[in-house]
Amino acid sequence: MKNILIIGATGQIGSELTMKLRSIYGNDHVVAGYIAGAEPKGELAESGPSAICDVTDAPAISEVVKKYGIDTIYNLAALLSVVAERKPMLAWKIGIDGLWNVLEVARENNCAVFTPSSIGSFGPETPRDHTPQDTIQRPRTIYGVSKVTTELLSDYYHNKYGVDTRSVRFPGLISNVTPPGGGTTDYAVDIYYSAVRGEQFTCPIAAGTYMDMMYMPDALNGAVQLMEANPDRLIHRNGFNIASMSFDPNGIYQMIKKYVPDFKMVYDVDPLKQSIADSWPNSLDDVCARQEWDWNPTYDLESMTRDMLEKLALRLK
Ligand code: SER
Repeated sequence: MKNILIIGATGQIGSELTMKLRSIYGNDHVVAGYIAGAEPKGELAESGPSAICDVTDAPAISEVVKKYGIDTIYNLAALLSVVAERKPMLAWKIGIDGLWNVLEVARENNCAVFTPSSIGSFGPETPRDHTPQDTIQRPRTIYGVSKVTTELLSDYYHNKYGVDTRSVRFPGLISNVTPPGGGTTDYAVDIYYSAVRGEQFTCPIAAGTYMDMMYMPDALNGAVQLMEANPDRLIHRNGFNIASMSFDPNGIYQMIKKYVPDFKMVYDVDPLKQSIADSWPNSLDDVCARQEWDWNPTYDLESMTRDMLEKLALRLK
């Protein structure tokens, strides 16, 4: 039986991944790691153990790992791209100094480690369409710089010390549970809240800007499936391109309008977000993930839209 620590368990991914892992491995086997001020609440707090676990505090991580006999760490602590541009040193401290801490604890305690990379690990020189698994990675954002470093450092720990590191390059993640904070792709979440509230949506990203996106259930399945994958089949490790849909603001708007005919959207382009979006690919080629660990997402834009509108309507009622 696995004993899992999630660092960043109350964040956008962590809040849902913790519950999913508890349903698979048992509530007592999944520790929700959080920082002061972001304590778990409700079901997340009540369904299993939790512990203060700041990624910048190596002794604290080590203590939690030893106390709970942890063998797998999902390291989800990060600043998203827009916030990171405003606080580059903090982004590095959390993303890279934090990762060193996690990897060292993992090496000492023989833990497997999952740390997300991102479509943000690519830059303007990267082939934009069907971006290959192995290609140019020269990002212009500190978020991207830290994600490329994450991939390299994670591979380094695998090659040098045999630490079982694995990761995926997540696209923009869309969910109806915990909202993202400070990402370039956040508009694709916010738009559903406006639609369900009956408000006009002001889009910060220009029409014609395509980015890969994914519905959270597929993203969670991907993370778990990769960590369960037979290592003998893995040619790559950090990190795999994964993809399920790519659209521009007009594409998601038109899809929502199909179900909410009165919905209105206007544009007020945010220069920072737009410049970040312009430096990222339009769509990734995920053939290696499909071949090496059977990645196979289930949601497309239409099925995600139906589910988002239905779930948010119930929640925001
Ligand atoms: N969703 C992230 C962001 O927009 C990209 O991985 O920053």
